[in-house]
Amino acid sequence: QQTLQGLAAAKGKYFGTSVDNSEISDPKLAALAGVDFNVLTPGNPMKWEVTEPTQNSFTYTLADQLVSFATTRNMKVRGHTLVWHSQLPKWVSEGTWTRDTLTAVIENHIDKVMTKYKGQLFHWDVVNEIFNEDGTWRPSVFYKTLGEDFVAIAFRKARAVDPSVKLYINDYNTDAINSKSTALYNLVKKLLAAGVPIDGVGFQSHMIVGQVPSDFQANFERFAALGVEVAITELDIRTTTPASSAALTQQQTDYKNAVLACVNVPKCVGVTVWGFTDKHSWIPSTFPGEGAALPYSDCYKPKPAYNGILSALGGT
Ligand code: G3I
Repeated sequence: QQTLQGLAAAKGKYFGTSVDNSEISDPKLAALAGVDFNVLTPGNPMKWEVTEPTQNSFTYTLADQLVSFATTRNMKVRGHTLVWHSQLPKWVSEGTWTRDTLTAVIENHIDKVMTKYKGQLFHWDVVNEIFNEDGTWRPSVFYKTLGEDFVAIAFRKARAVDPSVKLYINDYNTDAINSKSTALYNLVKKLLAAGVPIDGVGFQSHMIVGQVPSDFQANFERFAALGVEVAITELDIRTTTPASSAALTQQQTDYKNAVLACVNVPKCVGVTVWGFTDKHSWIPSTFPGEGAALPYSDCYKPKPAYNGILSALGGT
């Protein structure tokens, strides 16, 4: 029987999904996750507010739960995420810092969390969502205290702690060639020239039905030409709900085109969907009236979107 991971592997790629702790007690999800997917991204429990809720006090119960869920299914794990302005505990975001004290806090966080999972993970999203839509820097506590240096500080520390894992910079609304993706491109180019160890660029690809950009592949190609690998890290393609059959048909084309953009680029290593069933998705609570963004329906039936992925991967 053809599976997404099997077809992807035949093309030298992986196919992954995010899974969150609240989902694994769902028996259908637990049964299906390891069938189509060979990479798992923990949805929330590796984020700073969960792993280091108070300074230098680390908790890994929830993260361990998903690492073991993945391991028992032979799924690799994409670590998500080390340095991010969101889901950041207030002791960091509202702390009073100097360059030296915040650098020490970032380095300690990376040291402890990466050491805990040293040798066990496949990728780490080291730095997440650092740009505004217009390509200016997001005014996070990291940027306000350290300027853009926090990115190099984080990647250098990450490489020193675990040289076995690929280090990613990750963002959303960077799928097209636009101000934001160009800011990311220019930064990666500059940091690579300075010897900063960035291995990959992650494209979250939270998209809208009918709006998959036609230059998605061309965008991957320009990043790949810098020498980094690329990956689609959080793919979902939402629509208004209940979804019309026309929307679901368009979504099939959209999924096919998104996955093809990766398939067609040798340095694109794989695709991760941000959840795989409409039963468990972040969209409806964040965008009321929208959803139906994933390849399986809320009762675990493959949707037209699933067939779109299948055909992009060369299946039938
Ligand atoms: O854990 C608490 C629980 O104790 C509480 O009862 C409940 C009530 O709302 O909230 C729970 O926390 C929620 C958390 O998910 C865990 O389920 C938060 O409210 C909720 O905001 C949080 O949403 C997550 C979101 O990131 C927040 O930034 C989504 O699950 C997660 O899928 C989403 O993932 C992000 C990526 O990390 C980065 N890229 C964008 C993507 C989608 O927003």
